[in-house]
Amino acid sequence: MKIPDIFQHDENYRSIMQRLFEASMEESFNAIMITEAVPGYPIVYVNPAFTEMTGYNPEDILGKSPSILQGSDTDAAVLKRLREDLSEGRPFHGRAVNYRQDGSTFMMEWKIAPIRDDSGGVSHFLAIQRDVGDRWSGASGVE
Ligand SMILES: Cc1cc2nc3c(=O)[nH]c(=O)nc-3n(C[C@H](O)[C@H](O)[C@H](O)COP(=O)(O)O)c2cc1C
Repeated sequence: MKIPDIFQHDENYRSIMQRLFEASMEESFNAIMITEAVPGYPIVYVNPAFTEMTGYNPEDILGKSPSILQGSDTDAAVLKRLREDLSEGRPFHGRAVNYRQDGSTFMMEWKIAPIRDDSGGVSHFLAIQRDVGDRWSGASGVE
């Protein structure tokens, strides 16, 4: 079911939808990041769960690239697959070692969905991210 269908008979549906999305992101247990779809993928939004997971406040990270989370232990093969998926307009799902603001490492699992504007071009990317701790096999791919 598409979310707009819930509100289709309500003339205020656009503003209700906006508040619904804001509340979903602000209250989510998962980290959420939105970037622009331009080189370097500048970050335009991170939610409170992202700050809790990584230590980065919005003001530390807005305008920067998500690559700020990477370091020498981050699997380059996963990042190559990410580049290929995004350039083909496909969603991405993977996991790799990431670094918190304090330099400590954790296993990040994240999904990226391309978000299109009304003319069909990809304008933003939405990432859902979580710290998978011990719940990983050691393989760099997810499937
Ligand atoms: C929406 C979005 C979220 C991303 N989140 C992460 C992340 O959580 N961890 C990570 O290591 N890389 C993440 N990346 C990937 C880095 O941005 C990417 O590896 C880096 O920008 C270099 O990409 P490039 O070689 O295409 O410039 C994310 C990318 C996008 C578009």
